[in-house]
Amino acid sequence: MAGRIPQNFIDDLITRSNIVDVINSRVPLKRKGKEYTACCPFHNEKTPSFTVSENKQFYYCFGCHAKGNVIGFLMDYEHLSYIEAIESLAADAHLDVPHEETDYSNKNSEDKQPLYDTLKQASDLFQQQLKTSERAINYLKHRGLSGEVAKIFKIGYAPDEWNFLGGRLGKSKQALASLIKTGLVISKDNNNTYDRFRDRIIFPITDQRGRIIGFGGRILDKGEPKYLNSPESAVFHKGYELYGLYECKQSLRSIERIIVVEGYMDVVALAQHGINYAVASLGTATTTEQIQKTFRTTHEIVFCYDGDNAGKNAAWRALENTLPVIRDGKIAKFLFLPETEDPDTMIRKEGKSAFEARIKNATTLSDFLFDSLKSETDIDTKEGKALLASKANALIQKMHNSLFKDLLIAELSTLVGLSHRHLETKIAANTENRKPAPAKIKPTRGQQVSQQVSNNKTRLAVALLIQNPALASYHEAPESFKHAFNKGLRLLYTLQETIKTNPEISSAALLERFRGNEQEAALNTLSMLQTPETENKHKIIEIYKEIIERLNAEERSEYFKNKLENNEQLTQEEWKEYLKRPGN
Ligand code: UTP
Ligand code: MN
Repeated sequence: MAGRIPQNFIDDLITRSNIVDVINSRVPLKRKGKEYTACCPFHNEKTPSFTVSENKQFYYCFGCHAKGNVIGFLMDYEHLSYIEAIESLAADAHLDVPHEETDYSNKNSEDKQPLYDTLKQASDLFQQQLKTSERAINYLKHRGLSGEVAKIFKIGYAPDEWNFLGGRLGKSKQALASLIKTGLVISKDNNNTYDRFRDRIIFPITDQRGRIIGFGGRILDKGEPKYLNSPESAVFHKGYELYGLYECKQSLRSIERIIVVEGYMDVVALAQHGINYAVASLGTATTTEQIQKTFRTTHEIVFCYDGDNAGKNAAWRALENTLPVIRDGKIAKFLFLPETEDPDTMIRKEGKSAFEARIKNATTLSDFLFDSLKSETDIDTKEGKALLASKANALIQKMHNSLFKDLLIAELSTLVGLSHRHLETKIAANTENRKPAPAKIKPTRGQQVSQQVSNNKTRLAVALLIQNPALASYHEAPESFKHAFNKGLRLLYTLQETIKTNPEISSAALLERFRGNEQEAALNTLSMLQTPETENKHKIIEIYKEIIERLNAEERSEYFKNKLENNEQLTQEEWKEYLKRPGN
């Protein structure tokens, strides 16, 4: 899998793109003075209150208060994940998204074409072999598969030979190396190689573009292991691929829902019976990346597992991996089959319409979540309620902000008898706890009051800085802001540090750095705050300087007041500073 996207690429991408163009191509904008407006795409309205500022590269709705930069817009408007929004923006700019080097991306930088070629040739040979093996054909017939479906899935047969592929495809040194890199051929020592798949039914695994990237092979009779899979390679990463997704996209133009099942045979048998929208995770728990990929293709996922304990566990892991990626408009459901059945046996027994009726009646994510938690605790006691609430909190916390998240909190609230607001604060507080705690100074009453008074000044300072990042180099806020009691000053300091290490950063890119951060919402608002006329650069610098100095003076007063009130010792330096202060 590819590594992290470098931050400076994201900064650049945001700086290069124009939010007006990006929004205008989706929601036609009208020019109005310095800004652009439209009827808000995020709520229903007749008169436009949706505003896009070309200067600031932000959008804001005065009606529903939706706001953000270009990435945020794409995420919300097109229901994209963060990475998808970046990819979409990069595609518009004809840029490839770079990834920082990881083990895999090192492998990625090798030329992969020879591996794809080798895999394709191997698959063709396996398909040919199937035609000549009566035993393999009978096996598939016995499992109810038609030649037509076998062809769609390119099912093949690996003959019972140690050197079938090696002998046919590994004639040159390079070709043999490709076979080994894909795992089709195993090299024992330098001169000795043998085929991985022997006497097995072969299920080729394809990527989104239909290229074969690996295989699963099933034994025909009883034996161990039942399934053998290609190892990870430069082109095959199990946790990121789904068996059957390509075939599903090929046969359907619009995909209403996708069923995620466990086995190759389940996918194929469902397709055989007309349910051609099933995919399988490859023998492991369904990963977040696989779920994200599936949600890119459809709006609804139905996870279908056996009704036994292993199935329940697999479903629970799928639920945990769904929460971080689910967004409004996406649906996840869970379908549990009777204990001894899997989708393959079930569909053969009862046929398409009965199976689709099960799909329709699948358990919703919220029911599965709360029913499972309820079954683990005694909801009639306060202790049980507290346990349930804390378990649910831990899960809900993983979610993006969404109406769905709000609804889950509301349901939890009814269930345990704590107010919605109380739970929300708890969830937010937990998220905050995971970040390094700021220096703790016990607030006094006086401090709390004056913090509110200085709030406007702080807000203005932060707004000025986020709207004009260059200010950081004209006037530096003092280091004491780093541990200031006033949260706003700490934020200002963080902003300053970010700008200092990225002097060219734009406002919108700066804002992007705070996505998912507890200060994201505040910064979004401040980025749209009306600040003094920005035409005159010197004027702005002066204003900023003045505010910072006043804030600093206030912060020092609070600091001394707090120390003296708590009878704490001042250092000699501090006494000097204190006595020099006006009024002392
Ligand atoms: P199952 O054992 O449930 O297989 O494994 P199945 O799909 O029902 O197969 P049939 O019906 O007996 O042919 C589910 C999936 O787990 C992986 C495979 O991806 C399989 O499809 N698996 C299973 C392995 O990778 N290795 C194994 O030995 C077994
Ligand atoms: Mn099975």
